[in-house]
Amino acid sequence: MTARPLVAVTDVLPRAWLEPLVQACDVVACDEDAPGVLSPPILEAAPRVEGLLCTLEDRIDASTLDRFPRLRVVSTLSVGFDHIDLAACAARGIVVGHTPGVLTDATADLAMTLMLACARRLPEATASVREGRWGRWRPTGLLGLELAGKVLGLVGFGQIGRAVARRARAFGMEILFVRRTPTDDPLGRRVDLDTLTANADVVSLHVPLSDETRGWVDGAFLARMKPGALLVNTARGAVVDTDALVDALRAGHLGGAGLDVTDPEPLPADHPLLDMPNVVVTPHIGSATTDTRRRMARLAIDNLLAGLSGRPLPHAVALPAASTLAHNGGPG
Ligand code: DGY
Repeated sequence: MTARPLVAVTDVLPRAWLEPLVQACDVVACDEDAPGVLSPPILEAAPRVEGLLCTLEDRIDASTLDRFPRLRVVSTLSVGFDHIDLAACAARGIVVGHTPGVLTDATADLAMTLMLACARRLPEATASVREGRWGRWRPTGLLGLELAGKVLGLVGFGQIGRAVARRARAFGMEILFVRRTPTDDPLGRRVDLDTLTANADVVSLHVPLSDETRGWVDGAFLARMKPGALLVNTARGAVVDTDALVDALRAGHLGGAGLDVTDPEPLPADHPLLDMPNVVVTPHIGSATTDTRRRMARLAIDNLLAGLSGRPLPHAVALPAASTLAHNGGPG
């Protein structure tokens, strides 16, 4: 590592979490009221910055990278890295780190929370209490879906998908899953996508956002889902075609949706999804527990420090090879 490289931190983090970074590097912090990679203090220091600790809110594309001529490491405080132009990083010799593993339980917990909230009509139930409509106990009042004995279809069966499967099995659910690698798993049954959509009472998404998965859950996908089925998304909003989802909900084909991620994000306050009583939307809080966010910060800093020292990153994102870049006409 060169003597105390300069690192830019694009959002506000507790000082204690930043301690290992501050020990080894000079740090330029964002303006608290204007966070982000384009925050004025960061832009001012950009020509000298060698490491970037960013979040999924920062669009790290070629034009951003051009502002940081000495940048060697981009470390994102997230497992997802769809906000980073990997080809542009590779072309500039910049390594990229992310934070897989440490947010698995928190995200799986939230997927279950959304599933239960939709299944048991929590928004309608709590609204009725708040609005003074809690009247007589009725035998058929606010009847929901019982998870025990129902089928959960997991689209994507990596660490988070499997963590959701473990939880759902404890609720008595049967697990179907699709994943690219053709390996079986004792937690459930690997099926093709048509079998999953045709049989699942709840479909939960656990795939990264990529060119392949963008808009993947479209009108045709939703139409193949069982009538009354629930959709849960804790992955990335753009995996789902939002207009198609609104249509499927309006038509009454889907029973509800639990969304921690949306497209766009944030949703405007007048968005039709926010008017639907059978839709639960949370503001991208899958990893938002103190323990998890502290672990993510630690891992993101470990990635940064390793990269700045020329060591392999503990969790590097695989970058496209130079030959692929040349083939695709990529920069550099
Ligand atoms: C991630 O890490 O990619 C989540 O979306 C936020 O924690």
